Amino acid sequence: MKAMKKVLCLVLAVMMLLTLAACSGNTTEDQLIMATNANFPPYEYMEGEEYAGIDIDLAEKIAEKLGKELVIENVEFGSIVTGVQSGKYDVGIAGMTVTDERKEQVNFSDSYATGVQVVIVKEGSAITDLDALGGADVMIGVQQDTTGHIYASDTVENGGYGEDHVTPFLNGADAVNALVAGSVDAVIIDQEPAKSFVAANEGLKILEAEWAVEDYAIAINKDDTQLLADINKALSELKADGTIDAIIAEYIKAE
Ligand code: ARG
Repeated sequence: MKAMKKVLCLVLAVMMLLTLAACSGNTTEDQLIMATNANFPPYEYMEGEEYAGIDIDLAEKIAEKLGKELVIENVEFGSIVTGVQSGKYDVGIAGMTVTDERKEQVNFSDSYATGVQVVIVKEGSAITDLDALGGADVMIGVQQDTTGHIYASDTVENGGYGEDHVTPFLNGADAVNALVAGSVDAVIIDQEPAKSFVAANEGLKILEAEWAVEDYAIAINKDDTQLLADINKALSELKADGTIDAIIAEYIKAE
């Protein structure tokens, strides 16, 4: 009888545990929590209520390979790296450039795309080349905390234009609106978003010269070396079988 009771207790205990597990639903173990800033077409943007873009599709494929459910958090660009660092998010996927400063805070996966920083100006602008950006009364718009912001606001000796010549906006679209409105003279931003903003607004153009060439990669918490290895494996498979090329081709039409 005593033994029966023990077994019963054990069965009950196991059942309770199982119920608990079921109640917490998808534990974080089953999820891949991705932080992004969905105002950056064609990498990530909103299509009505839905997330769309290269990074979103890529993340779906990676989550699938990892056997996890993708959960997307749309946050300010500047809080992605710190959120990944603190463990709030598993990964940051946001057309994010690999930089030495960010590498101090997070790990980066292998690169999955090249990014180019370009300059948008109004058609007929006096700014016709990169040198003109250094003009005494030129004001440059950027998205806050992006490489465009970081590099442009650096000192002239370091290749920037000085903080006084840079106005940060919460997202790229706001910077472009300021350009259209005439409150800034140029916008430095990644090439593909630049193309899409120029296409969406009358009277803008992209300067021919490239301002900087960069690598995009996925930011991962430094302690999560297993996740880094798993993601790099997934990326190399997705590269090898043409999935990544196909995703990019879907959003970026060759000229
Ligand atoms: N490539 C730039 C950077 O890493 C800009 C990325 C902005 N991405 C975004 N989803 N808003 O700083």
